[in-house]
Parts: sequence; structure tokens; C-alpha cells
Amino acid sequence: MMRSTVQQRSDYTFKANRSLGRHGWLRLTPAYGVKLVEKLLSSSNTEAIILDPFSGTATTGLVAAELGYKAYSFDINPFLIWLGNAKYRNYAEDCLLDIREKVWQALKEYKSQLEQDNWTPQIFNIERWWSGYTLNVLAALRTALVEQFGEPEENDEYSVVWIAFCRLIIETSSAAFNHISMSFSETVIHHEIEYIEKLFLDILDFVLRSAEKNIMGNARVLKVDSRNIISVGNIKINKVITSPPYPNRVSYIRELRPYMYWTKFINEAKEAGELDWLAVGGTWGIATSRLNSWTIQEEDLPESIFSTVKNIRMSDGKNANLLSIYVLKYFHDMHLHLSSIRSILEDGAELHYIVGNSTFFGNMVDTAALFSDSMRILGYSKIHSEIVRKRNCNKALYEYCVSAIWSTG
Ligand SMILES: C[S@@+](CC[C@H](N)C(=O)[O-])C[C@H]1O[C@@H](n2cnc3c(N)ncnc32)[C@H](O)[C@@H]1O
Repeated sequence: MMRSTVQQRSDYTFKANRSLGRHGWLRLTPAYGVKLVEKLLSSSNTEAIILDPFSGTATTGLVAAELGYKAYSFDINPFLIWLGNAKYRNYAEDCLLDIREKVWQALKEYKSQLEQDNWTPQIFNIERWWSGYTLNVLAALRTALVEQFGEPEENDEYSVVWIAFCRLIIETSSAAFNHISMSFSETVIHHEIEYIEKLFLDILDFVLRSAEKNIMGNARVLKVDSRNIISVGNIKINKVITSPPYPNRVSYIRELRPYMYWTKFINEAKEAGELDWLAVGGTWGIATSRLNSWTIQEEDLPESIFSTVKNIRMSDGKNANLLSIYVLKYFHDMHLHLSSIRSILEDGAELHYIVGNSTFFGNMVDTAALFSDSMRILGYSKIHSEIVRKRNCNKALYEYCVSAIWSTG
């Protein structure tokens, strides 16, 4: 495809997922669109086992399970594992009725909690997120919901309530998502208590209605570090459809922080940095300072990775050395991933990686070409890449689909 004719295709991004039932439960800007996954799945045989080793909001697994496939997803973020498994489960009618009744009960009782000292998360500068009044209402509501449902837990049918609560906290916050990462509005928005209650009930209704529809297939999110995949049971995968982090210093923790604090998946800033250090391309807090002392484990990387890194290091940009290590570690970690995933691939497995390129001080980091080079060294065949869409922020930034076949013969 000629680059000049490539379009932005918002139908291939998270934006198109918002109205699509469970896919619209919670937004994550780096999520890709349902339509893209459907297209990549369309040629699969019905028995195919699908894997997404970088699950995020579980788009791949959910599309696959909705179409009747068996699917697995891997992630290292406990909140996303919890969210994905809540999206994948089937909910009995009785359970959804019970949830509605308990929420009514919580809404009756929480007003009496407003005067009390309710638990609030230790989010840095919390007053930038919510006005004192809104925070007080959210905290009282949370206390009443905990009395009815208990704290958010893995594999719990009440997770849907906490997903609705996460939507509530973000929709009542001053966070704005008008570009790739998040920013705050100038003034903290004040909401009336009636507005917050109505918003919560509307969100809950949307979530519960989409939970009513049963899923035909079967999917699970497992806690697996995809840089080091050791065989998982006897799973053998026929098709990989995924979108790993891009080498662009975007931190998932940054966008997920409010949810993760309110659901107690993280309790203090230190934990967010530790989690981002495990993430490919992680760049939050401690993850950045650790880069300085990071040493390479796998020397047998494609030469093109080392030359890209060298160009960044030699440029006169601020922190050029640190950012060159960042880029090296990113492709190093993805190489470890592409190497270790081979142990769970069926002969003839198809792989599709949606990746974005980036630039550092004018040096193009051609992610699709560097992935292809790693795949070549690792013995994959039929490697090719094509442009999927243009990203909006800069003319030279695109998303590509890098595809390959794993064959042992
Ligand atoms: C671009 S997001 C995936 C978005 C996903 N396609 C969606 O539609 O929501 C990348 C995901 O990879 C996960 N990840 C990063 N490093 C990982 C690792 N070492 N092992 C497993 N998952 C990892 C992140 O937590 C994040 O959820």
C-alpha cells in the first residue's frame, strides 16, 4: 500500500470498541479494534486455539470466544488479568438480578456513610482528580459496595460491579484522554450527588446488559511474563493475534493507575514502578532509573537492532544514552518473547503482531523491520509486514501487521 493513501482507520482502534458490549466496559487507549481482530481471525479453522500474549483489555480473547473459539491470553498486570477474566465469563440470570438488588441496597445505605472517614486511595495529588465533595461521595459509595460485594477479587462474578465503579471514577474525574496519554482539565469538576448516582446506575445497566449475553467459546487470561514463556499445561497454539507495547515510552500504568488504586490492585506508587519494570517497554518511575544499570542477557540479536540503537546513542538529544538503552531493552525483550513463544506453538502456527514505529531525535525506529529480523534469526518463515493504519499524531507514524508462520518441518 502507498503510504500516501494510508488512512487513520479509527475503526481499528479502541474508539470503535466503546459501543460493542463487553468490549466497551473500560477504555485503554492502546487497545486495538474488534474489527481488526475479526479480520485476522476470519481465515481460522473452528478448532484453532488462539493466543494473545499481550492481553491488555482482552480484545483478542473476547472476540475469539464470542466467535466460539478457545483462547488464551497472557498479561503481567494483575488488574488487566482480573478485567479480562471478568469479560470472559458467563453470568447467570440470577446472579445479575442479585447484583441489581444489592446495588439498590448499597445506594440506600451509602448516604449514611457520607459523614464518616471512608477509605480513599493513596493516589498522588488526588485533589487534581476529584473535588473533595466528589471524592467523599465516591468513597462512601465504595464502602457501601464493599459491604454488599466484598473487595474486588479474581474470578468473582461480582467483578462486573467493580468494573462499573471503575468507569464511574474515571467519568467523574478531571482526567482527559484527548491525546495518546492522559492529561487533566484546568479546573477540577464538581458533581452533584444525584448526578453521580444516576451515572453509576446508567453505567451499571450498560455493563449488566452486555453481561447477559453468553459467550459461546472459552477464554482465560493467565499471569505469564511473555518474555519468558515456559510451557503452560499442554497448551499448543494455532494462531497468535496480538499487539505488544510499542517502543514509544507509553506506560499502561499511567492510564490504569486510577482503576488500580481504587480496586486495591496497587496501594502505593512503588508498586506501579515495579510492575512497569516487568512490562516490555515499561517506563514508569523506578523502571526508568533501572535502565541505567540494565545489562543485556541475549547477545544474539539482529544487527539492525544494534545499529538503530547506535544511531540514537550517537545523536545529540537529551538523555540519548538512556533512551538508546530503552530501545535496546525493548527489542531485546521482544526477541526473548519471540524466542520463548516457540515452545507453545503448533507446527504451522500463524502469528500476527500489530506494532507501531517511533522516532527518537529524528532517528526512525522501524519496529516492523526489526521484529521481522528477529523472527528470521529465530527460524520463522513467510515473514511479511503490511501497513494497517496511520497514527494520528505524526505523519511518519504507522501501525503495521507483522505476520509469520512457525513450522518445525
Ligand atoms: C498494547 S497493550 C495490548 C492491548 C490489547 N491488544 C487490547 O486490545 O487491549 C500491551 C499489553 O502487554 C502487557 N505486557 C507488557 N509486558 C508484558 C510481559 N512481559 N508479559 C505479558 N504481558 C505484558 C501490558 O500489560 C499491556 O496490557
